[in-house]
Amino acid sequence: MSASGGVRLVLLGPPGAGKGTQAKVIEERTGARQISTGDILRANRDAKTPLGVEAQTYMDAGQLVPDDVIIKMMDGEIAAMGPNASFILDGFPRTVGQAQALDTLLAKLHLGLTGILMFDADRSALIERLAGRWTNPRTGRSYHAEFNPPKVAGIDDEDGGDLIQRPDDRRDVVVDRLAEYDAKTAPLIEYYGKSPLFVRIDTLKPIDAVSHDVIAAISKNGHAA
Ligand code: AP5
Repeated sequence: MSASGGVRLVLLGPPGAGKGTQAKVIEERTGARQISTGDILRANRDAKTPLGVEAQTYMDAGQLVPDDVIIKMMDGEIAAMGPNASFILDGFPRTVGQAQALDTLLAKLHLGLTGILMFDADRSALIERLAGRWTNPRTGRSYHAEFNPPKVAGIDDEDGGDLIQRPDDRRDVVVDRLAEYDAKTAPLIEYYGKSPLFVRIDTLKPIDAVSHDVIAAISKNGHAA
């Protein structure tokens, strides 16, 4: 663990567990920056950059983008934050290879993680959440038609722009995303499970109650929000 202050979190969990929702809460409470691999990839896809064009085929099919592409992208993001980096990794690492690359990068930067939060939820809840999700494509903020509705349907509370439904939230793609999670991401529970920084978060509670547990878990590690 480095002597550097700040919050450096990994958020793990299946699609729809609430990583993005809680990353925004942590960002507001701690000032740490949310780094969402999904949001970065979608911004590149929409701008039709070479990275975005390559990633789109995988994202549309509900598959993970290859490790070498993601690791290069995240090395750049994290290294650019400098020695006092404070971040919330939302959607990275997602394979054991990515976790090993993150360990190597953090060692090189003399930085350590301050928490690893595992968001647990059952399958039926995940499918219901993704089916009802509405997203602001400009900021990545998510709403839910029933559980967290915007003040005006289809409109973001903060910037007043349109909300969209993500194409990969279609039921058939969700099934493939969950299969990718089981095959490639779930092994990270074993990878990180013995670390004293590893905390399981029950996300079957309402959003505010989950936020309460998340902030308590971070505070326990000496980073009171
Ligand atoms: P990404 O965008 O990261 O998608 P994901 O991990 O599948 O996660 P989601 O954004 O779907 O879910 P979330 O856990 O953030 O849930 P949210 O808070 O929105 O990745 C997309 C794609 O990019 C991947 O499939 C892959 O192709 C590629 N990719 C990304 N990272 C990669 C990597 N590292 N390696 C390789 N490829 C990568 O919540 C969901 C809904 O539920 C919302 O509507 C919300 O309002 C609601 N909700 C949240 N919490 C609760 C609650 N407690 N109760 C009720 N409703 C709730």
